[in-house]
Amino acid sequence: MKKEFWLEKWQNNQTGFHKDFTHPLLMEYINKLNLEKGDSIFVPLCGKTIDMLWLNQLGFHVVGVELSQLAVEQFFVENDLSFTKHQEAEFSVYQYENITIYQGDFFALSKQQLQHIKAVYDRAALIALPNDLAAKYVDKMQEIVPQNAKELLITLEFVKKLGPLGPPFTTPDDKVVKLFSSYKSIKLLQEVDIISREGKFKELGCDYVYERVYLIKF
Ligand SMILES: C[S@@+](CC[C@H](N)C(=O)[O-])C[C@H]1O[C@@H](n2cnc3c(N)ncnc32)[C@H](O)[C@@H]1O
Repeated sequence: MKKEFWLEKWQNNQTGFHKDFTHPLLMEYINKLNLEKGDSIFVPLCGKTIDMLWLNQLGFHVVGVELSQLAVEQFFVENDLSFTKHQEAEFSVYQYENITIYQGDFFALSKQQLQHIKAVYDRAALIALPNDLAAKYVDKMQEIVPQNAKELLITLEFVKKLGPLGPPFTTPDDKVVKLFSSYKSIKLLQEVDIISREGKFKELGCDYVYERVYLIKF
């Protein structure tokens, strides 16, 4: 997926992936990350998700990374957060109190930039990437996130009869297990068929959409 693909999505307001509510599985399983107030959580490919706001309201420091400047600025403006902005290597870094968003390419992040991270929250990030990039993303994450961090990963599995292959790309359990085989552990926490509330997938001819949440240890 080329960078221009995502930048155009944001420019054209084609952001159907964005939700105006906190993800129910994040709320249900946040305790599995064993975070304490003041701990830092990384939200890769964050878009303008309000899950970041919810995490911050719990007392966690939030660090996001997002390609689109539009997305990052919309996050701060729509949530009435005044931000500062500075340059750090190839990133524009946006900051409001304990929320930091690196605007730029996830693959350009360094270990040093994430040295305080205790947890990762991945919703619609891994599954937004085609197979070759998904594998690189998982490897890069392991390289830059400190040992012993924990991750909540949310995936979708479906079979489309119409439309493009993705994004999102179907991400069945065996694909996840393979991708994370070099991580310390991976545990499936919950699986639920969300087709009844996902009209968009019905229109693409899907009979089911399994949403899964995993707990992963680095
Ligand atoms: C499907 S959206 C999900 C956004 C967010 N996680 C959410 O739940 O709303 C994927 C996002 O990843 C961003 N993105 C894609 N490739 C990226 C990259 N290499 N580095 C940083 N962000 C990227 C896109 O601009 C887009 O906002």
